[in-house]
Amino acid sequence: MKKLAIITGSKGGIGSAISSAIVDKGYRLIATYNTGNYTCAKEWFDSKGFTEDQVRLFELDVTNTEECNEKLNQLQQEEGTFDLVVNNAGITRDGQFKKMKAEAWFDVINTNLNSVYNVTQPLFAAMCEKGNGRVINISSVNGQKGQFGQANYAAAKAGMIGFTKALASEGARSGVTANVVAPGYTGTPMVEAMREDVLDSIKSTIPLKRLAKPEEVAATVAFLASDEAAYITGETVAINGGLYMA
Ligand code: CAA
Repeated sequence: MKKLAIITGSKGGIGSAISSAIVDKGYRLIATYNTGNYTCAKEWFDSKGFTEDQVRLFELDVTNTEECNEKLNQLQQEEGTFDLVVNNAGITRDGQFKKMKAEAWFDVINTNLNSVYNVTQPLFAAMCEKGNGRVINISSVNGQKGQFGQANYAAAKAGMIGFTKALASEGARSGVTANVVAPGYTGTPMVEAMREDVLDSIKSTIPLKRLAKPEEVAATVAFLASDEAAYITGETVAINGGLYMA
């Protein structure tokens, strides 16, 4: 039987590459998409050439605690216990903190950090009971180093790192590992949406002088999900071209 994985933010720039990598590794993947976005998700599914055996599209508002609890419990009854959980959904609402509205703060914390509780909590106990599993959280270089204009985003992404270390401590006795992948500036719509002058000035500070490719991030996730990575837990793997060396 195929191993079972779930990813949030499946059709995003990094999420899409991770989804392909997980499917290539032979997992059955539950790919979540936000409420009302079925058409978009289906287009993505078709464009990737996935089969229904490989990928099941699953509508889920990751910011809604009650909905996640109900739907993910039902999903486990239908599909079984998860082997891999990838928390990838994320948004930006950049702006200087002195001008930051509460909405920009709470939207980012809800989507990027509270979602991690909402999705992982209903799945984690069964993974522990089964005696193995992987949780991989997609954070950011800016959760490690901070970034002008991203107090909300940096707070959420740093929160994921603390959460992961705590979860790694709790999961270890049951063979469940938890790790973080912290991409730097990656060639995705999120980064391409930045002001050109700001992005150019950031690029000039990256020692490798280019953006990451989504596939480079996905390859690290695939490695952390593999049997070879069984002894790695509580770790943060940076893929940032040398922008920040922790
Ligand atoms: N450090 C110190 N000062 C800075 C600075 C920095 N990094 N960046 C800008 N400033 C200064 C500017 O020099 C300027 O100073 P003066 O007023 O003296 O001229 C002042 O702050 C205002 O700068 P901006 O013109 O940039 O301010 P703004 O209000 O127009 O724009 C902003 C603010 C939208 C946040 C813009 O600065 C910005 O886009 N910053 C980049 C944020 C960023 O990195 N986002 C990443 C998105 S991608 C992502 O998040 C994926 C991932 O994980 C990496």
